Amino acid sequence: MRAIITTKYGPPEVLKIKEVEKPQPKEDEVLIKIYATAVTASDLYIRGSSVLPLKYRILMRLFLGITKPRKEINGLVLAGKIEALGKKIQRFKVGDDVYGLTGFGLGAYAEYKCMKEFDSTYGCLSLMPNNISYEDATMISYGGLLAFQYMGKGTINKGDKILIYGASSTTGIIAIQYAKYLGAEITAVCSTANIELVKAFGAHNVLDYTKENTVKNDINFDYMLDAVGKSKTSNLKVSCKKALKKGGTYSSIDDGNLKLDSNQLSHIKELTEAGYIKAYIDKCYSFEEIIQAHTYVESGHKRGGVAIKVLKD
Ligand SMILES: NC(=O)c1ccc[n+]([C@@H]2O[C@H](COP(=O)([O-])OP(=O)(O)OC[C@H]3O[C@@H](n4cnc5c(N)ncnc54)[C@H](OP(=O)(O)O)[C@@H]3O)[C@@H](O)[C@H]2O)c1
Repeated sequence: MRAIITTKYGPPEVLKIKEVEKPQPKEDEVLIKIYATAVTASDLYIRGSSVLPLKYRILMRLFLGITKPRKEINGLVLAGKIEALGKKIQRFKVGDDVYGLTGFGLGAYAEYKCMKEFDSTYGCLSLMPNNISYEDATMISYGGLLAFQYMGKGTINKGDKILIYGASSTTGIIAIQYAKYLGAEITAVCSTANIELVKAFGAHNVLDYTKENTVKNDINFDYMLDAVGKSKTSNLKVSCKKALKKGGTYSSIDDGNLKLDSNQLSHIKELTEAGYIKAYIDKCYSFEEIIQAHTYVESGHKRGGVAIKVLKD
């Protein structure tokens, strides 16, 4: 099978396509034929991108391999079809469309991947929403798990005023839709180019971090989600935090680790099939365009998700 391997840490050019052995499922694994994967912020960090400050890059190498990546095949997100089953598998059958994250197992930049059916640090898997493409599923799984996990840290009630900082990111776009589903009043923060996009997904009010430095004195929020992390900031972000109500909740996507949770993926599937959650794919690249895809995501300004088409039907 074909895979994209990371030969060493460095810029996007370290990614190479190579023929590698197709994996065979063990008795507690499924074999997934991968139709789409995504390029996420996490993939850049695993590649050793310079967008991550040096001290964090060094820390990550303690887990990933000191001189070069121990796991050559990067990739955290996949959507595809079950092609074969180990004899102990109960949750899935051959032909099921599935989506999920590979956790410490990585390996989604390949035509096939074996995964266990139950959650572990090596991934989580669920049946895919039946009304979206494989590419859309990669955005919804990654952004959905992050949005639902961090928004779950506060209780959001109907009519609550919530603020989503970095609303045009993968997580931000799902967070807007989830907040709308919960009946919240949503203020989204993004740059000028993304104002119409975040409104289209359900934001009631929009603040432009490239033009505004402060939140008006009379606005107070029950909840604030920082959907882009601590390295992306602005004067407006500082002001947004100050506009939280006393007792309000602040969550940053950078606090703690992403939970690999197939129940949450199933919940996201239900909301997607019911029409509450939709994907937004900024760009979709071919397998051969992986360097361009990483270069684009590294720019820090992707809107929604960036998908990679792996296998065609
Ligand atoms: N906790 C975990 O385990 C975990 C796992 C994965 C990722 N993360 C975190 O999630 C973060 C987001 O990742 P992602 O892939 O969704 O997004 P991303 O690609 O890092 O962010 C892209 C978006 O950020 C917006 N943006 C850039 N600079 C901004 C600024 N100063 N203020 C507001 N928005 C800004 C861009 O909009 P404009 O073009 O309009 O600026 C763009 O739409 C990462 O930084 C990572 O640290 C955490």
